[in-house]
Amino acid sequence: MNRHSKAAEAVAATGPRPVVVLGVCGSIAAHKAVDLTSQLTKAGFEVHVVLTASAQKFVTAIPFRTLSRQPVLTDLWVEENWKPGHIKLADVADLLLVAPATANLIAKMALGLADDALSCVALALNPKARVMVAPAMNGHMWTHPATRHNVELLEGRGVEFVGPGTGLLSCGYEGQGRLAPVETILARVQHLLSRETPRPPAK
Ligand SMILES: Cc1cc2nc3c(=O)[nH]c(=O)nc-3n(C[C@H](O)[C@H](O)[C@H](O)COP(=O)(O)O)c2cc1C
Repeated sequence: MNRHSKAAEAVAATGPRPVVVLGVCGSIAAHKAVDLTSQLTKAGFEVHVVLTASAQKFVTAIPFRTLSRQPVLTDLWVEENWKPGHIKLADVADLLLVAPATANLIAKMALGLADDALSCVALALNPKARVMVAPAMNGHMWTHPATRHNVELLEGRGVEFVGPGTGLLSCGYEGQGRLAPVETILARVQHLLSRETPRPPAK
């Protein structure tokens, strides 16, 4: 039995599959979210993907839908049901994971803006759900005082950050801003959603 099927068995043994809503933003690293979707699904999570409009410049919904075996939310205004798709996901999520997270989406979350499907899920999220953000961006965007302030604000609200790592960035610069490895994000999700991990107190 491999690592994934062991994890899936462990999750299955504890009851219904934890629901991860995976928000994918308009970063050059968006393609890595396809592998992340696959790894999370294999690990036993129910994965629902939300793509921002910018993310769809880099990736399409098709691989996410196939690998997660769930519909993909790509537009706030396309409704298949009486209940808006973003509210449905906000209600059922155990975790909102944004990976890759852009500087823009981090700023919107910090400010509580809700002008697209992903930011609406973030703002309407049920209070029991955890939030994890894996940023990917140009190093200057990451170190900009506005981003630093937004990250501090979100950390103060209990949002967990994974990465970013340091190295050669796709924008050509060397520095901090690389999306954390998919395996690292998966391990952090598994740890966060394990029963033993208490929620940090709000600051
Ligand atoms: C080729 C290209 C790559 C980009 N990569 C990133 C990135 O890695 N991180 C980031 O924060 N913004 C990046 N951007 C800018 C975002 O796509 C832009 O801020 C967009 O409005 C983000 O929208 P979203 O947050 O709704 O996905 C990139 C833009 C282009 C054209």
